[in-house]
Amino acid sequence: MTENDAAARTLSIDIGGTGLKMLVLDPAGTALNERQRVETPRPATPGAIIEALRGLIAGQPEFDRVSVGFPGVVHDGVIWTAPNLDTSWRGVSLAKALREITGKPVRVANDADVQGYASIEGSGVEMVLTLGTGLGSALFVDGRLVPNLELGHHPFRKGRTYEDYVGKPAFEEVGKKKWRKRVDRVIAQVEPIWNYRLLHLGGGNAKHLHADELPMNVRLHSNLGGVLGGIALWKG
Ligand code: BGC
Repeated sequence: MTENDAAARTLSIDIGGTGLKMLVLDPAGTALNERQRVETPRPATPGAIIEALRGLIAGQPEFDRVSVGFPGVVHDGVIWTAPNLDTSWRGVSLAKALREITGKPVRVANDADVQGYASIEGSGVEMVLTLGTGLGSALFVDGRLVPNLELGHHPFRKGRTYEDYVGKPAFEEVGKKKWRKRVDRVIAQVEPIWNYRLLHLGGGNAKHLHADELPMNVRLHSNLGGVLGGIALWKG
C-alpha cells in the first residue's frame, strides 16, 4: 500500500488553539473511528504539541498517510506563523516531525483551508470562515484553494482585527448574544468585498449561530470538518 493507493487510509489531525483532534478516514473520507481529542498543551510549543500528538497517534487504527490542519500559515509542511500557539513554531517542519513519528508521508495545510475542503460545493467563489480560538479564513474558486488567506488579522473596527472582534476571547468577554451580532457585522463587511456565491461558517463556535438568522448564501458546518477535510490534501 502506498499513500496514493486508492485504498489508502488517512490519519487526519486538527491542531487547534484549544484542542488537538484526530481520526482515521477511509478512502471515501468516512471516519473509521471516533474522533479523539486532548487539550492543547500550554505553553503550546512545538515540543509539547508534538509529544501530545505522539500520544494520540499511538491509539489510532492503522493508516497509510497523514493530513494535518494547522492554525497558521504553512508552506510545504513548514510553519510560518502560529498566532494562537507559540512564536517558536516559526520555521519548524511539522511534516518532517510527524513523518519521523509515523514513518508515513505527511501533508500539512492551514486549518481553515482543510475545514474548507470538507465544506465547499466546488463551484464559483466560496469563502470559509472558521469561528474558533482564532478566526480562520479560506477562499476557493471552482473548488481550487487560494492557500493561506489570513483575513482574521485584517483590521476591522477601532484598531481591532476581525479575530480580535469574534475570536474566542471576544466570545467569552461579550457573551453569545453580542457575539452573534458581531458575526453578523463581520458578514455584512466581507460579503460586498469578496462577493462569494457561498459563505461557509465552521469552527467550534459556529454551533452558537442560528442558521435561520443568517443570510441565504451562508451555510453552517460542524467542527468535524476540521478533520474530515484532511483527505482532500491528497487529491490532485
Ligand atoms: C491564524 C489562521 C488560522 C486561524 C484559526 C488565526 O489566528 O492566523 O491561520 O486559520 O487562527 O485557527
